[in-house]
Amino acid sequence: MVVKAQCDVAAQAPQSAESTRTGFDVARIRADFPILQREVDGKPLTYFDSAATSLKPTPVIEAVTRFYTESCANIHRGVHLLSMEASELYDEARRKVARFLNADEEEIVFVRNATEGLNLVCHCLNRKGAVVATLADHHSVQLPWLERRELRYVGVERDGSLNLSSLRKAIRRGTALVCVPHVSNALGVINPVEEAIALAHDVGALALVDGSQSVPHMPTDVQALGCDFLVFSGHKMLGPSGIGVLFGRRELLEEMQPFLRGGDMNKEVHKGWYVPEELPGKFEAGTPNIEGAIGLGAAVDYLESIGMENIEDHSGELTAFALQELSGLEKIRVHGPLDPVRRSSSVAFDLPGLEAHGLAKMLSNRYAIMVRSGYHCAQPLHEELGIPQTVRASFYLYNTLEEIGALGAALRQVMAAYTRAAV
Ligand code: ALA
Repeated sequence: MVVKAQCDVAAQAPQSAESTRTGFDVARIRADFPILQREVDGKPLTYFDSAATSLKPTPVIEAVTRFYTESCANIHRGVHLLSMEASELYDEARRKVARFLNADEEEIVFVRNATEGLNLVCHCLNRKGAVVATLADHHSVQLPWLERRELRYVGVERDGSLNLSSLRKAIRRGTALVCVPHVSNALGVINPVEEAIALAHDVGALALVDGSQSVPHMPTDVQALGCDFLVFSGHKMLGPSGIGVLFGRRELLEEMQPFLRGGDMNKEVHKGWYVPEELPGKFEAGTPNIEGAIGLGAAVDYLESIGMENIEDHSGELTAFALQELSGLEKIRVHGPLDPVRRSSSVAFDLPGLEAHGLAKMLSNRYAIMVRSGYHCAQPLHEELGIPQTVRASFYLYNTLEEIGALGAALRQVMAAYTRAAV
């Protein structure tokens, strides 16, 4: 949906450097992110690509460095001091993630990223029936099922949000699993995920939530959500790359057979047969990303020290201001709903006549503003809505209203230059 109407939020121009109206101490937070000291051609770095990957705070960098400098060893295999320390750090990281999600630690499987979690469910789920996914889902939700199962698509509203009546129709018969993105990575739309989970359960289907764009930004309680599976990546929530999480309800993980087999996922191995490890170890074959898990544990500590409600409020303030700022620009088309309450932490837009990658390069080269451009791994959504590739500005706890103001100013200059060039 292309929206040009005036945003009805009460966002106003920022008051002072690194200020917020919610009292969130962004200046203190920014001091924890060393990369934000960087200047590009004398300009301050503005990072608006956190939906792709977040920046990393010093406590996360230090946790990973400390593992390498003090406790570097493999886990669950040795009885020597370093191996015991490494094992404890890895297991502690799982406990932190479990607490963060209100899950049991046996229900937390460490994977490489959300994509691997999704592929794990696809390969190991032993329920018969179709899989239902939305047109707003990321490619990594859609692609694993192709050629393996019937994949039914659920439509979206004109603003990109999940269409619940289309979901009701899609799940009517023979559905094993319903996949829903809590927050669309392309448009930032918050979907009615609780309703979708309830509808799935009404027809006896399981519900999988893609939390890649929600877990980093808002409190997540898997018990309250009632989902059967939840996947997300550590690198979008201040953690290292190469570590992600699959939450699965214990009974479901118990009945699933691992699709990766090897060291550490077994209790005993004999000629021709083996006994799998208890949960969640049976899904973690081979040496895992130990430092990644430890870094993710440090990221969880950091996020909890700030408070997920505070982060959500701050993101809401940034999103509201960005919607106001960008939708007020004459030639810019903002996609998705303009009500900030219905969005989380990102705004996608295009400037007709200038393709998205060109605009993103210009913002980077001339203004040191880092945004993502393209289909954002959600091409079917763009095709369904008839929207072109977009520029996506995505925000996190270290961003400020001033930075959003700078994006608006940069876009005004770009548009003025294009208007001059056109006459
Ligand atoms: N899925 C990531 C994004 O939306 C990479 O940019």
